[in-house]
Amino acid sequence: MKVLGISFGRKNKNNDIMVKHALFAAKKAGAEVQFINTLSMKIGHCIACDYHGKAIANGDVFPKCPLKDDYQILEDAILDADGIIIGAPVYAVGPVGQIKNFIDRFGPFHDRALLIEENKKRKAAGKPELDSRFFKDRYIGYISVGGASTHNWVSMGLPTLALFTFSTCMKAVGHIDAYKMGPTGHPLLDKNLMDTCSELGAAVAASIGKPYDQVTTWIGKQGVCPVCHNSLIDLDGAGNGARVECPVCGIWGDVSINGGKLEVKFSQAEQARARSTLVGVYEHYNEIHGFIQTAGPKVQANKDFIEKEMEKYLHFDETIAAI
Ligand SMILES: Cc1cc2nc3c(=O)[nH]c(=O)nc-3n(C[C@H](O)[C@H](O)[C@H](O)COP(=O)(O)O)c2cc1C
Repeated sequence: MKVLGISFGRKNKNNDIMVKHALFAAKKAGAEVQFINTLSMKIGHCIACDYHGKAIANGDVFPKCPLKDDYQILEDAILDADGIIIGAPVYAVGPVGQIKNFIDRFGPFHDRALLIEENKKRKAAGKPELDSRFFKDRYIGYISVGGASTHNWVSMGLPTLALFTFSTCMKAVGHIDAYKMGPTGHPLLDKNLMDTCSELGAAVAASIGKPYDQVTTWIGKQGVCPVCHNSLIDLDGAGNGARVECPVCGIWGDVSINGGKLEVKFSQAEQARARSTLVGVYEHYNEIHGFIQTAGPKVQANKDFIEKEMEKYLHFDETIAAI
């Protein structure tokens, strides 16, 4: 079993130290470990070229992103791993942009529902199937690192890191909100923090090989959402009764006030359809297929109208000068 630690922070600074500390514990628990620091890696943003979609449709067993940078090094390491520890610094209230670039490129075309359905077609046609590493269950632990003393300066850190997980259906076993690094001075001066990093590394290693439904471990603070353990709440569904949504997992919870205390309960059925589960990715897969089927004929039926109206956008400079 292999545990990969990835630090998106500066070399030998806070993220590196905490991720490496988690790896020490993973190694002690019997894992083979690998550490990658991404600071000098070039990971550009997704340009929505749809290369993967075409490559998959053409029968490629391991489509690789056509952008020529260091993305593939990280993807290969992740696919080879059974467990992952990620550490990322908070920049401007959320994780450093490099990790979002990675998530955008790693996510959608590794969507497990999409790849399962593709493999079914290939099996039926007797064609070579996709790389089996796309279907491997993996466990993950997150470390979000911020300098500020106040939590509201790291609010989007852990919730955004959790987006790393969903397309490939990894299961998180813990997260660490390591803010206050400014006043702490150095992570080694906070024994509790370092001990929690150890627990996280050991928990990832100990979970490997077990079926997801047998792993209930959670290291770190338990949040309002019982799946991702973040405490962000979306009120978009508030018009539909006293319901709120976890924006990370996309699941509904029922709100009540008991003894002046706000409570949110997420039913087992809602937890089972969280974005990071197979049920969750299939919901999104079916949603996408639904709108592809609706939009195609609609656009075709309105082809002339769209072409005519598009003129003013295509010739923006002339249009804007005439206004
Ligand atoms: C551009 C920039 C923006 C930052 N923004 C925040 C922030 O919004 N909240 C916060 O808590 N820390 C912020 N920090 C501090 C870093 O999160 C902190 O220094 C962290 O330890 C960096 O990780 P590293 O030591 O592993 O490189 C920022 C740092 C930089 C360089």
